[in-house]
Amino acid sequence: MASGLILGIESSCDETAAAVVERGSLTRSSIVASQIGTHAPYGGVVPELASREHLRNIVPITRAALEQAGCELKDIEAVAVTSGPGLAGALLVGLTYAKTLAFSLGVPLISVNHLEGHIHAVLLAENRDQGSGTREQGIASGLPMPALALVVSGGHTHLFLARPPEGIAAGQAGWRYELIGRTLDDAAGEAYDKVAKLLGLGYPGGPWIDNLAQYGNAKAVPFTFAQIKPKAHLEGKAPRTKGATIAPIGGLNRHFLFSFSGIKTAVLRYVEVHGMRAACEERMKTLSAMPHAAWQDALPWCDKQTLDLIASFQHAVVGDLMKKTFAAAEAVGAASVLVTGGVAANRELRVRFTAEAAERGLPIAFPTLALSTDNAAMIAAAAWPRFVAGEFADWDLEANPRMVL
Ligand code: KG4
Ligand code: ZN
Repeated sequence: MASGLILGIESSCDETAAAVVERGSLTRSSIVASQIGTHAPYGGVVPELASREHLRNIVPITRAALEQAGCELKDIEAVAVTSGPGLAGALLVGLTYAKTLAFSLGVPLISVNHLEGHIHAVLLAENRDQGSGTREQGIASGLPMPALALVVSGGHTHLFLARPPEGIAAGQAGWRYELIGRTLDDAAGEAYDKVAKLLGLGYPGGPWIDNLAQYGNAKAVPFTFAQIKPKAHLEGKAPRTKGATIAPIGGLNRHFLFSFSGIKTAVLRYVEVHGMRAACEERMKTLSAMPHAAWQDALPWCDKQTLDLIASFQHAVVGDLMKKTFAAAEAVGAASVLVTGGVAANRELRVRFTAEAAERGLPIAFPTLALSTDNAAMIAAAAWPRFVAGEFADWDLEANPRMVL
């Protein structure tokens, strides 16, 4: 009997991940090897180091995923892999490994877009988090469609209208994604990371800011987001975003476009004007002297002014994401909202998005915290409709760092 087991491989950025998912909805295993310790001293991902770590980790991680799933390679019916977007060298490691594995096992190879993977992290039935932290079982198809999907991570801030397959037939692999909005410059997670770095906090910055923001006054510093000018988003004018999807964006509604580079500069200016520079450098020095493993328990000492700045930054970012996401959902007639990607792990984001959705009577869903950040279960899940439709990749599939969805 067919096992319905797909092995997923993900290596687009700084996590090496493998997972086994049954029929696109049941996570049999999900193993993630984080490289945070490797990149933390640099305050960001170093591409060469990432590739090297992937190379070291990919085989043991895959073995661990098979073992946790209680299956063997011979039980796998297809290998799904992230082929883009992401870091070229990092993608290449996962892709080459997945290709070799699929070829030698005589099973199909399925190419998955990383962003599509993030969307499917929410749709994995047993992994849905309804915002309150509770889980509901077996409701993968329960979220009304189409859904407005906010994919918000270190590399992406994208709004898609996601539609499920109308019926799976050959050549019609299923989900359709319409780009509704995106960032013109930095991704929201990138802003978190850069602001954390300049305040002398650890890497990645999201969890640090998330933890510290609760102690500050979010109304202390009134950050604002400039309106995107009518012509700024026309094709060719958009600044390039590191590692992110570069899509021609002429034609998108400017009210659904994001820009997070300004707030980073505003935080920097605030630090300079209020003479906070020395304290930030001191904090960074203290953290750098600690082994990375000890960082998890270290909430660095911050004065009230810094805590207020952190809380205000987060409040502004979440507010901007929220305003544009719900405006877009309304404009395109979405029946639900889903938020996914590393920044979707943020507590203030979950609370405020959940409250806003309730007020508007719109169902909303997030992945579990573990599936918010990069993982391979989402890649195997996204591959299932393609597997059913028989849409397989050729053996000459190449990594595409700038792949668009
Ligand atoms: O999805 P992800 O693991 O990788 C990318 O595809 O980029 O997202 C990583 C990003 C980082 O920028 C990190 O700072 C951010 O997600 N992040 C958070 C939180 N946890 C991770 N941002 C805000 N709050 C969090 N709790
Ligand atoms: Zn990601």
